[in-house]
Amino acid sequence: MGLKWHVAAAAGDWLGHALQCVARAERAALAARGEFHIVLAGGSTPRALYAALAGAPHDWSRWQVWFGDERCLPPDDPARNSVMAQQALLARVAIPASAVHVIAAELGAGIGARRYARELAGVDMFDLVLLGLGEDGHTASLFPGHDWGEHADAPAALAVHDAPKPPPARVSLSAWRLARARNVLFLVAGRDKRDAVARWQRGERLPVTAIRAPDSAWGGDIEVLLDTDACPTGATT
Ligand code: 6PG
Repeated sequence: MGLKWHVAAAAGDWLGHALQCVARAERAALAARGEFHIVLAGGSTPRALYAALAGAPHDWSRWQVWFGDERCLPPDDPARNSVMAQQALLARVAIPASAVHVIAAELGAGIGARRYARELAGVDMFDLVLLGLGEDGHTASLFPGHDWGEHADAPAALAVHDAPKPPPARVSLSAWRLARARNVLFLVAGRDKRDAVARWQRGERLPVTAIRAPDSAWGGDIEVLLDTDACPTGATT
């Protein structure tokens, strides 16, 4: 799994490139297996992509939607990643409810993680995993100083407590489970991510660097899509 950096020069390029990545992964998945397993990222950055996806024709009946992480909040709490995805995309397209696999994080981090790991047991490789980048280098709900679940003997989903980004209790797919994918796309935008990108490019050990296949047999490419604001000055990309 090689790491590719893509800097979107003009404003519209960031969204255009992200849409192309989704369409390419979807096309390959449907041609090969007849269904498309996508993992949605949380936070605010992906919202524009989800809204743009909702406005384009896709074979929604063959999508299977997973979540990279979820906050331990009530199911309809506006701060939930599932609620953001529901509003921006899922409520606007004809994906069967049975194909939207929401993390039951409202049950608590431990129960939610165990249930999701069981649900994932029957899923091999994801076709596309979307992820964000936090200012401290976190991704999904894998935070510095916490267990990232890098090795395949770790659970597929982790219970996260005292997360530095509220709320403290969360459920996150583990690093190895997120990396068990044919394609991984990090969606990064804004000046506040510049420092984390610079640390990443310097090779610092961060949660984002734990997203990598343990061997080439596992996955395709990892791509990091940056807008110019997120690019460190004199970036190596
Ligand atoms: C979460 C997200 C988290 C997010 C990053 C970036 O639950 O908060 O999963 O990993 O992707 O913190 O968040 P923004 O896109 O809002 O900057």
